[in-house]
Parts: sequence; structure tokens; C-alpha cells
Amino acid sequence: MRKVWVITAALIVALMGATALILFVPNSLGKAIITEAKATGYIDYTPEEAIALAYERCSTCHTEQKMLKYCSRCGPPFIVVVHFMKKYTEITNAQNKGLDLKQFSDAEVVAIAQAWNALIGNWESDWPEKDLRKLLDKDKALTNLLATPAAQRPIEAALKDKHASGSYRRYGLGLDDKE
Ligand code: HEC
Repeated sequence: MRKVWVITAALIVALMGATALILFVPNSLGKAIITEAKATGYIDYTPEEAIALAYERCSTCHTEQKMLKYCSRCGPPFIVVVHFMKKYTEITNAQNKGLDLKQFSDAEVVAIAQAWNALIGNWESDWPEKDLRKLLDKDKALTNLLATPAAQRPIEAALKDKHASGSYRRYGLGLDDKE
């Protein structure tokens, strides 16, 4: 019986501690903790946050036109592009000492790939899946996303009726069911 009380007391103290942390950490620090929790996948991105993240992080090295004008004729689907951009980030950092561009986390690329798929187009089905898997190399997070049907991807499904303004829409390529 005693043991139960000790455990209960410990739990209450822990809970109070956690509550205090949430209530009293300075706002910016609190925000930083949440941002980090999302980047590491502990908290899911909302669809709107995924869009904001996609625009912000993907226009570090080039303008958003690169995404907006990208199309199924231009190259592999976004899931692969996003994977390549991780490589570019790595290479850019290696070539520019001290630049230290922030690398994309797994949760970030998974959210960003879904956002661009929804806003611009998803033409993963135009490509043999095994080729896409090969291009994704050892990227487990994106390989898992590839294996998930678009309708079951939370962010992509939620945004399926949205389009990015200024995006390349000629012939509706890559937009299949959306026009
Ligand atoms: C580290 C810098 C960097 C970041 C960050 C970056 N890119 Fe790129 N991106 C490049 C480079 C370098 C190229 C290739 C040269 C070019 O086309 O300008 C490129 C090209 C592209 C292209 C054109 C590919 C083609 O075949 O025409 C697309 C689309 C693209 N990026 C999308 C993205 C997306 C989506 C993100 C966010 C996940 C992103 N980029 C983030 C550096 C970056």
C-alpha cells in the first residue's frame, strides 16, 4: 500500500513539474521547445504549419518559383526532390565553412513533401515504385511515406483541394484528380 502512495506522490510531483514547465517557461523558450518537438516528430505538424515550413525552408537557396514551376515533365516527384535537397544542404554546408544551413529532419521532409504534393502535384504513380525507392536511397522516413497512399497521408489528404497560387498548371499535369 505504501508503495502505491509513494508512486502516486511521485507522479503528482512530476505532473506539477511538467505543468510548471509549460506554464512558466518564457514564451520564446516554450515556442522553441514546441518547434523542436515538431521537427523531431513528437508533435505532428498541422497542414497549415506544413505549408509555412515548406515555403520557408525550401526558399533558403532558391526562390519559391523553383517549386511553383516544377512539374511532372520537369523531373521526379516531390518526394524525391525533397530527398535530393537534403543532399544539396549537406554539400552546400561542406563547401562553405561556417555557413551551417539547417539540415532537414525526417519529420520536416515528410511534412514538406506532402505540402508540395498537395499544392503543386503528386506524380509518384507515374514512376515505377522501385525506381523511386532506389532514388530515395536509405531515406527511411520518405520511403515510408512513399508506401503510404496519398489519401492516408494526414497533411496531403487535408490539403488535397488546395493549390499554390502561381504554380505551373498547364495541361493539369501531375494534378490528375484535382481539375
Ligand atoms: C541547400 C540549398 C537548397 C535548399 C535548402 C533547397 N534547395 Fe532546391 N535546389 C538547390 C540546388 C543547388 C538546385 C539545383 C540547381 C538549380 O536548379 O538551381 C535545386 C533545385 C531545385 C528544384 C529544381 C529541380 C529540377 O530538376 O529542375 C526544385 C523543384 C527544388 N530545388 C525544390 C526544393 C524544395 C522542395 C526544397 C525544400 C525541401 C528545396 N528545393 C530546398 C538547392 C537547395
